[in-house]
Amino acid sequence: MINESSTWKKLQDHFKQTSGLHLRDLFAADARRFQTFSCEHQGLFLDYSKNRITGVTFELLTELAREAGVEAWRERLFRGDPVNLSEAKPALHPTLRDDGHGPAAAAGKSDEAAADRARMYELCEDVRAGRRTGFGGKPFRTVVNVGTGGSHLGPAAACRALAHLGRDGLNLSFVTGADDRRLSETLNRSDPERTLFVVTSKTFATRETLAGAERARDWITGHYGADDAWRAHCLAVTSNPVGALRLGVPRENVLTIRDDVGGRFSLWSPVGFPLAVLIGSERFEEFLAGARSMDAHFAGAPLESNMPVILALLDVWYVNFHGAGSRAVLPYDYALERLPEYLQQLEMESNGKSVDRDGRAIGYATAPVVWGKVGVEGQHAFYQLLHQGKRLVPCDFIVTAKSADPSPSDDFLHANFLAQSRALMCGDDGDPHRRNPGNRPSNALVLDALSPFTLGSLLALYEHKVFVQAMIWSVNPFDQWGVELGKRVAAELPGVRENDLDGSTRGLMKRLNFS
Ligand code: F6P
Repeated sequence: MINESSTWKKLQDHFKQTSGLHLRDLFAADARRFQTFSCEHQGLFLDYSKNRITGVTFELLTELAREAGVEAWRERLFRGDPVNLSEAKPALHPTLRDDGHGPAAAAGKSDEAAADRARMYELCEDVRAGRRTGFGGKPFRTVVNVGTGGSHLGPAAACRALAHLGRDGLNLSFVTGADDRRLSETLNRSDPERTLFVVTSKTFATRETLAGAERARDWITGHYGADDAWRAHCLAVTSNPVGALRLGVPRENVLTIRDDVGGRFSLWSPVGFPLAVLIGSERFEEFLAGARSMDAHFAGAPLESNMPVILALLDVWYVNFHGAGSRAVLPYDYALERLPEYLQQLEMESNGKSVDRDGRAIGYATAPVVWGKVGVEGQHAFYQLLHQGKRLVPCDFIVTAKSADPSPSDDFLHANFLAQSRALMCGDDGDPHRRNPGNRPSNALVLDALSPFTLGSLLALYEHKVFVQAMIWSVNPFDQWGVELGKRVAAELPGVRENDLDGSTRGLMKRLNFS
């Protein structure tokens, strides 16, 4: 186990020796701290100088990554070796954005991914150009993605981020199907004759997604008074085409995704269809190119200057040595407002684990709680705790230097980001109530501009960060058995005998009149 390694012990000692240091003093003592602890990769700049680290901390952390075999695991990932050990599968998401020349070409699956993509582009360009129409012959104006988790959060976050590249006359909506009323709101403002439903579900077995899709089908067939109509208004994205056919989706409208790509890593596959419809296939290629460029950086850069590795190591430092239980994601760009929930699934579903990849219990903390909100709104909600609370909450500030749609409020957002990251770091003096201790760590990720390329790069950065952390913690980031239990219990509850239940669940069922 990694916590028995000599470097882990050195880091524990180092933590004790350095815990009295204040970031303010570290900056005062080193005029080049910003230059030393920052790096850049094709439009993405990372300033990690406002972290409680010294050169020695960083050396020890990279030594830890080497000891955990991060370099060898990285090769296995790109080669397509099984890295999802509990399910004996590779994790092929990097092949989805490979062009045959990137690091994932070694896995030999890039051509298959390109073929799936070509089919997606054909459909998406047909929708965009109005060549594909509804049952009544009208071009589509609304595309509704029905899906949840990885079949929802990635496309929703990316479409929000790149909404400025959409064009008038085509609206996108994302529904989970878990709440009829939410779905009704979307249906009520849509024209059935111009609405296309994309049912996205890797398994095609997720109850709420299927329920939402059935409602959509009833809405369409009810409108036309013809069962056939649904065929013209639906697409499916899945690795279970049989399930899609059962829902009445015609075979030619089924886009397939690989089983060896996890849902939360699948945005680069036809799961990204809503994004491709929004920005078009050419710009979707730029999105993939951004991710591919991050793949190349992750695969080739030494650990010391490798952005995903740096982010992962900083988290390990706070989680395992400072005892931090959470990390805040704070975009200062409204276009990135859905990023926190996307990262929540990516990080917590991947690394919220208590056994190592061989199934042995581990004695150290793993993924922190990841949470956040557009920073300028968070300031009026939870920043009090960030500044003066008893808990250490490292923050990731995410900022865009040049807005896609410039406005006078950009300066306001930038000013607030700069002020908050500085205030958290420096603090100030005052009476006990007014005193801000400072020394609160943060990263700043600055995107030159929010483009398909930089967004692809940013998301791939976090994917690889999650992978590196998992390798250090020896957990499997590609399964999610914890989620399955809740799904099973929910399915079993309606028919269960009362006596087989605990008193609380029985009591609550009575309260809710649930049977
Ligand atoms: O939330 C659990 C989960 O299994 C996720 O991993 C997945 O992204 C989501 O459900 C949706 O699953 P599916 O795409 O199969 O409907």
